[in-house]
Amino acid sequence: MKTRSLFFFCLASLSILSCNQQEIKFTPNTLEQFRPGYHFSPAKGWMNDPNGLIYIDGEYHLFFQHYPDSTVWGPMHWGHAVSKDLVNWEELPIALFPDSLGYIFSGSAVYDEENSSELGSKENPPLVALFTYHDPTQEKEGALDFQSQGLAYSLDKGNTWSKYATNPVLLNPGFRDFRDPKVTQITKENGQKSWLMTLAVKDQVHFYESANLKDWSLLGEFGKGIGAHGGVWECPDLIPMKATDGSQKWVLLVSTNPGGPQKGSATQYFIGDFKQGKFTPDDSLLRWLDYGPDNYAGVTWSNLPKDQDRNLWIGWMSNWDYAQVVPTSTWRSALTIPREINLFEVDGTLLLKSSPARELEKLRKTTYSISKTESLLPSTSIEILAEVISDELFSLTFSNESGEELSISKEMGLVTIDRRKAGKTNFNLDFAAAHSAPMSWKAESIRIFLDASSIELFVNEGELVLTSTLFPSSPWSKIKINHGLDEVQLIELFSK
Ligand code: FRU
Repeated sequence: MKTRSLFFFCLASLSILSCNQQEIKFTPNTLEQFRPGYHFSPAKGWMNDPNGLIYIDGEYHLFFQHYPDSTVWGPMHWGHAVSKDLVNWEELPIALFPDSLGYIFSGSAVYDEENSSELGSKENPPLVALFTYHDPTQEKEGALDFQSQGLAYSLDKGNTWSKYATNPVLLNPGFRDFRDPKVTQITKENGQKSWLMTLAVKDQVHFYESANLKDWSLLGEFGKGIGAHGGVWECPDLIPMKATDGSQKWVLLVSTNPGGPQKGSATQYFIGDFKQGKFTPDDSLLRWLDYGPDNYAGVTWSNLPKDQDRNLWIGWMSNWDYAQVVPTSTWRSALTIPREINLFEVDGTLLLKSSPARELEKLRKTTYSISKTESLLPSTSIEILAEVISDELFSLTFSNESGEELSISKEMGLVTIDRRKAGKTNFNLDFAAAHSAPMSWKAESIRIFLDASSIELFVNEGELVLTSTLFPSSPWSKIKINHGLDEVQLIELFSK
């Protein structure tokens, strides 16, 4: 009786429930252990980078590096999923299979509206995907040029794909690492439209140009003597963006493995100008998109409707240091939540902010305002919003029935996610670690997305971000606000 009247009281208060700890009941989901409740993960097998992100006819297409026959990396396919709202994903049949030219590595897709490739027609323009062919036989034989760029096209809005008859379209001039074409359409200084391919080549980026997506010529190179070079550069993306003063900037995302700020893989970015095939950075500051250990190979969607006016991005939520040994059973890896990336300014320096895509709000099921310092969690599909009282110091801890803990804090100008005691860690020597990011400016709010095996922390709506995977022995079921946070809202999210 008591529970029922409380239930009606809560409903009456416009879905914001002001309830105490006792009223929140933890309901574990019925998914396999570690399976995310609202992040995209493949039904089975291995996944790494997001590929070919494109919006067409009301659908966001997501392709991904996929090996369906095993939970470790192998002959790469392009897996395929679609969503109408960026939160509910439907996995579709595999889009691209390896063939005699090799595995299908990462790449991108564009809408060839004017049929410049002549692969469709004026009435039915094609979607064109550029990807890397990786020939494992040539690699074993010690060749250098075993990676080249191939093309595939779709005449049914991305549902099925045909490979171009005379692949590859871009041969390898002799670089061991020559991959991950990100194609975009640009308008040149003379007003002409042109296709631009940004390609990762060893630990640099090369820019190629084409009028028809099939014949490519080298325009320029970038990366020597600037940025992090702890490993190869991969999955670049060159994006025009407005600076805070309204001026036009170009942001170059480049994933680097190893050499990230937390060891292993991470994504750095450069801000500058791009003219006539030449990228000129504004400065030589080292910038990281996400300071957590588990965010790699992220790129943006192409062909978003003009009225969306945003750069929509998604990344692979893992790290090559341990991606193949994490303790999931029938599948491996999930993607981050989709994020919007924008420039903002701190003390005269431009930085990139990545905020949860607004569509994520659709996942909100029930909101609880917590007044006590300790509270049960209603499930493991959770969003948390909180105001930071003191910019120097805040801390909160999640715990579970196995006595494990995951803590988040800001202290002495460092924002930290500590996963040392957050569950299984013995599959990799470095996994049990606390990961910190420097934040010299004021933290005003935090927003957290917690799922069965991940946490994404957005400080000031994404001015600083840390993404981390976790493998707790039992689900997170409690939250404790240690200090420094106010107006804490606990939001139960819809889950699979
Ligand atoms: C990045 C990456 C890419 C490559 C793909 C292979 O994670 O190494 O450079 O195309 O994965 O699966």
